[in-house]
Amino acid sequence: MLVALNAHAQTKLDSSVPRLEKQGAATQLVVDGKPFPVLGAELHNSSASSLEYMKPLWPKLVASHLNTVLATVSWELIEPQEGKFDFRLVDGLLQEARTNDLHLVLLWFASWKNGKSNYQPLWVKTNQARFPLIQNEQGKSLATLTTFSDANRDADARAFAALMRHLREVDGEKHTVLMIQVENEVGVLEDSRDRSPAANEAFAKPVPKDLMNYLIQHKATLAPELLKVWAANGNKTSGTWEEVFGPCKPASVELYGPDLTDEKKNIYWRQLNWASDEFFMAWRYSMYVNKVAAAGKAEYDIPMYVNAWLQQSGCPRPGEYPSGGPVPQVHDLWRFGAPAIDILSPDLYIEQFAETCARYTRNGNPLFIPESKAGVQGAAQAIYAFGACNAIGYSPFGVDRFAGSDTELARAYDFLSSVSPLILANQGKGTMTAVLLDATNATQTFLLGNYKIEAKFWVPPSWAHATNTMTGPIAGLFISTGPDDYIVMGRNLAVNFSSTNETENVGIGTDEEGVYQNDQWVPGRRLNGDEVPEWRTLHLRNDKYSIQHVKLYRYH
Ligand code: DGJ
Repeated sequence: MLVALNAHAQTKLDSSVPRLEKQGAATQLVVDGKPFPVLGAELHNSSASSLEYMKPLWPKLVASHLNTVLATVSWELIEPQEGKFDFRLVDGLLQEARTNDLHLVLLWFASWKNGKSNYQPLWVKTNQARFPLIQNEQGKSLATLTTFSDANRDADARAFAALMRHLREVDGEKHTVLMIQVENEVGVLEDSRDRSPAANEAFAKPVPKDLMNYLIQHKATLAPELLKVWAANGNKTSGTWEEVFGPCKPASVELYGPDLTDEKKNIYWRQLNWASDEFFMAWRYSMYVNKVAAAGKAEYDIPMYVNAWLQQSGCPRPGEYPSGGPVPQVHDLWRFGAPAIDILSPDLYIEQFAETCARYTRNGNPLFIPESKAGVQGAAQAIYAFGACNAIGYSPFGVDRFAGSDTELARAYDFLSSVSPLILANQGKGTMTAVLLDATNATQTFLLGNYKIEAKFWVPPSWAHATNTMTGPIAGLFISTGPDDYIVMGRNLAVNFSSTNETENVGIGTDEEGVYQNDQWVPGRRLNGDEVPEWRTLHLRNDKYSIQHVKLYRYH
């Protein structure tokens, strides 16, 4: 039975409610007063709509060593009739999560999901006079609610507020729900912007003064992509969207003949300017989402994020990916438009993992990756995100398919749970970093603590009777724990330490393999001889992620 917490008791909600807190340069998710690493996975879109479907999945989720499940809550299911809410499904999810000692991040699928509108209730879908849609140039409606409608926004916000009120009542003390994703991959698809009459009218007007002032005041920290567009059009401090950010080509303009290859088409698209359309839509979506998020936070204030469908090399034009969603070039517009949103998140399936993490941690944006890959790659990415980017959490998509104990992700999450107190203690302090490596890339060199470190992908020689089929990617994670002391975590990793003073040699004093149990270091083998070739290179095993404690010394 879920116990209801009334509004009076809520006023006394203490600081144990999930919240974001700074630790040095990092921002951490703090739950029940302690930093919490989200070792998550996201269910397929429809899974959480049936408690029956979920039943056999819960034990597999537990076996996957997750601590958090990302699950959809849809507007259509909680408000099937206007003003009449049904939270039985939400309560069932909470109950099962608690029984299985798991947390939840709830995904509010409402006005938009992947740019389109499919999750609004039927009474919204069928009343387009009251809840209008986006239009294209020909005046044809797209199956997407327009941001240019207070009715759309307010109906969504009312439902979301009801959900958050309910969560406060049933979860305000237990904290099963850690965070909320507001909508899913918002933005206009099929066109670079909304071309309904209301949208056209707003687009022809000057960029709003308060937004212009925000950009001027924050010029020193704006995204370089935005600065570039602004500068290319003369750094104007007022004017219409196209005057300030450049004219866009309307979607209908014939830009290429029928014989143009996709590759050439993409090169061509890239040379065109779509910034005004995309910036304009980012401004609209952020303000709409902000109203929804703020209405929810007024009821129950826990961290909220939005997720982005990223621009991909094959589809570079806004509209081929949702135009106006929180991609890096419009982060500043989202920050201006949506102060109620705490985190801008990437759904990170593209190859450029480290670069994208870097673009999503600019200006102190905390890194939370709600959708990504599992497998060997997911395992490495999760470790890298926590170690190099102070991530709050990592979550591969579609866990229904791969839940279970015998997976790379399960092993990585098991490993990460054992070392997470150490990782969390070092986030934001400049004492920890990580690298992503594979069989094809070069040695990575970096400074940490008092030493220079070189890390490269390594497979044991065949005489060591090891299986040498692993090609990566793998992660290496490094923590400086004293003037000459390091903890190194990883797999298939060769690591050398050297001095920043070239006349000085660095030797390995001691090298110990071990594990963390209940936050305590339990030493295993003392590594030496063939396991530490030439007494200068650490080798981390190739069959699983492992840990070594190393003490260095210097000699001349
Ligand atoms: C990204 C979306 O955000 C998810 O809901 C899901 O549709 C996946 N794509 C499918 O790959």
